[in-house]
Amino acid sequence: MRVLVTGSAGFIGFHLCRRLLAEGHAVTGFDGFSDYYDVGLKRARHATLLPEPGFTEIDARLETQGALLDAMARAKPELVVHLAAQAGVRYSLENPGAYVDANLVGMGNLLEAVRAYPVRHLLYASTSSAYGGNTAMPFRETDRAVTPLTLYAASKLAGEAMAHSYSHLFGIPTTAFRFFTVYGPWGRPDMALFLFTRKILAGEPIEVFGEGAAERDFTYIDDLVDAIRRLADTPPPAPGGSGPVSPEDSLSPVAPYRLVNIGGGRPERLDAMIDELERALGRTAQRILKPLPPGDVARTHASTGLLAALVGEIPRCPISRGIPAFVEWYRDFYGV
Ligand SMILES: NC(=O)c1ccc[n+]([C@@H]2O[C@H](COP(=O)([O-])OP(=O)(O)OC[C@H]3O[C@@H](n4cnc5c(N)ncnc54)[C@H](O)[C@@H]3O)[C@@H](O)[C@H]2O)c1
Repeated sequence: MRVLVTGSAGFIGFHLCRRLLAEGHAVTGFDGFSDYYDVGLKRARHATLLPEPGFTEIDARLETQGALLDAMARAKPELVVHLAAQAGVRYSLENPGAYVDANLVGMGNLLEAVRAYPVRHLLYASTSSAYGGNTAMPFRETDRAVTPLTLYAASKLAGEAMAHSYSHLFGIPTTAFRFFTVYGPWGRPDMALFLFTRKILAGEPIEVFGEGAAERDFTYIDDLVDAIRRLADTPPPAPGGSGPVSPEDSLSPVAPYRLVNIGGGRPERLDAMIDELERALGRTAQRILKPLPPGDVARTHASTGLLAALVGEIPRCPISRGIPAFVEWYRDFYGV
């Protein structure tokens, strides 16, 4: 298979590329190496992909006119996995323009490129933040999602809507994922696990938002990649085709388009996550309890019924194994 992965130097894109290359697919990795966090880490991820004979790097930005069209012309992919984005909930209060550029203008360019070079399946990374102010748990794909709390969430929801319209108009089989707090080796330096690890090892205090009671549905990276990989082989049928697979199916009635949660389905309190981290590091954290920042939600919990109905049960690595795996990578990579 020929696959174009955008965001290939990012946390999730890198892991997905590694998996696809190990399976023998030809992978084009498109990434603009944005400086939202340490570009050295992004380069290090790509440096492990570049020696693979099946890997081609394209260093370009989503919002650059023509860049994605050129990438599609070169890669001729059967599958596009669109992961490149301006991520991060809190940063969207600081630099909203970055979200408009990457997630709205960039998404428009991506869809135009897929329209020009049709693919068998387009997969798009949205987020659990799309559930916004919803309080009914677990979050189901069929729930109304109309209360985004940040521009990040709003831009990802807009991306879902944009992708649905192209799927309808041009018959592009499209799966939009809503990812839930993904973590693991080669993770993102702006996320709590990474930040806490750095601070605890440096002997600095950590700020614990929601006073430790906030809950997140942590998803281990290998489980997430497994789910993406299986869903890639399961494009949604056209309207009038095989129809919904379960009462929870979000399959569109007017487009080959479906929304799927990818989450562990098992929320953990933030303070339980820190307890695990302390055990893995063999250090005690100095915890400064803080209220939830604006735009953060108190709890996320994925319904995983649709994912299981589509591709079977995905293994779920518990944080008691996932956090030590992250710490082992962190210590090795940074030599601490
Ligand atoms: N990690 C999570 O917990 C999580 C949760 C929900 C959704 N997501 C979504 O999953 C996707 C991947 O997330 P990640 O954690 O790997 O993030 P990441 O920031 O590590 O990866 C994103 C990559 O996209 C690239 N990029 C950003 N803006 C770009 C632009 N304008 N042009 C070209 N490249 C650009 C960055 O350089 C980066 O390498 C994102 O769409 C994110 O919103 C992630």
